Amino acid sequence: MSVKKHYSFLVNGENHTVESYPANRLLDVLREDLRLTGCKEGCGEGECGSCSVFLDDVMVNSCLVPIAQVQGRQVRTVEALSSDPLGKILQEKFLEHNGAQCGICTPGMLVAAITLLRRNSQPTLGEIQDGLAGNLCRCTGYKKIFDAVADAAQVAREQGVLEGGKA
Ligand code: FES
Ligand code: FES
Repeated sequence: MSVKKHYSFLVNGENHTVESYPANRLLDVLREDLRLTGCKEGCGEGECGSCSVFLDDVMVNSCLVPIAQVQGRQVRTVEALSSDPLGKILQEKFLEHNGAQCGICTPGMLVAAITLLRRNSQPTLGEIQDGLAGNLCRCTGYKKIFDAVADAAQVAREQGVLEGGKA
């Protein structure tokens, strides 16, 4: 039978140690143990993207990551994005374009948009659609989200937050 163990890792730059069963999901540890409720549970099966966070700077679905795999690693959640220049621009543009309505998908959309724009600072509409394809939204019809990401990319390039061309 599984027993609880201690797991230590960084979340948004701060050290945390939790006592947890090894198979407990990172999503639940973030939301319930650490009270970081920015990441949301949609499907719980890796299909909707609403629980996305960065694990060692790579986007993951936190509903699929057992806490045992997080030992010694770095997690960044949507709560940290307002102190990230690109995350801040994206948040402002989501608000401006009404890309956030009920907000369930928004944290995952922001994480996916950052992942996309770091790779490609001048995405076409098709590339934005592909970049966000793993994230489901039941409210916006997607166009407002795609507009927000395109506008954010342009502003981030103008402000020098992103370089002008594709990486
Ligand atoms: S809740 Fe994790 S992908 Fe849907
Ligand atoms: S804003 Fe509601 S699911 Fe996207």
